[in-house]
Amino acid sequence: MATTTGNAEGHDATVDGPENDGVRRRDFINIAAVSAAGVGGLLTLLPLISQMAPSADVLAESTTELDISTLEAGQSIKAVFRKQPVFVRHLTQREIDEANAVNVSSLRDPATLQERTLEGHENILVVMGVCTHLGCVPLGAAEGEPKGEFDGYFCPCHGSSYDTAARIRKGPAPLNLEVPPYEFSTDTTIVIG
Ligand code: FES
Repeated sequence: MATTTGNAEGHDATVDGPENDGVRRRDFINIAAVSAAGVGGLLTLLPLISQMAPSADVLAESTTELDISTLEAGQSIKAVFRKQPVFVRHLTQREIDEANAVNVSSLRDPATLQERTLEGHENILVVMGVCTHLGCVPLGAAEGEPKGEFDGYFCPCHGSSYDTAARIRKGPAPLNLEVPPYEFSTDTTIVIG
């Protein structure tokens, strides 16, 4: 028995029962086979990927050591910590003064520069180079990059501006750039992690 259906172009498409059922069934079997192959491929890939990735323990324990002996006031280092960018800046006196002049209670994510640095090393600011909005890498660490309205870091993705203490001052980012765990192993060497 034949059935008739209208298509989008206004033509009628006639579909015969037994013959076309066969064609349609074959099509379905082909599609199902391809889909199964795709899923199978994924399933075999996943264990491989998870074997290649470092375990959570290894990742958690990895550290980044940086020699900052040649880092002068006004200069920054862009490094990598646990596969993510990290910025180390030797703040100038002007940048320190600017950070300390801010009324902390007016900040979206209140914190003093002192709280975001280590005692005796308030001029060394270590922050993750990951915007707290959606994870872009902000500009401002490299020489010549725009630092934004508040003279720290600027995320061009959606316009978040951070100040000289890398605190969020404007734009959609909810939090300051994160300060990772770190310490000075010598006067001029820091170990992040
Ligand atoms: S990711 Fe930085 S402002 Fe959106």
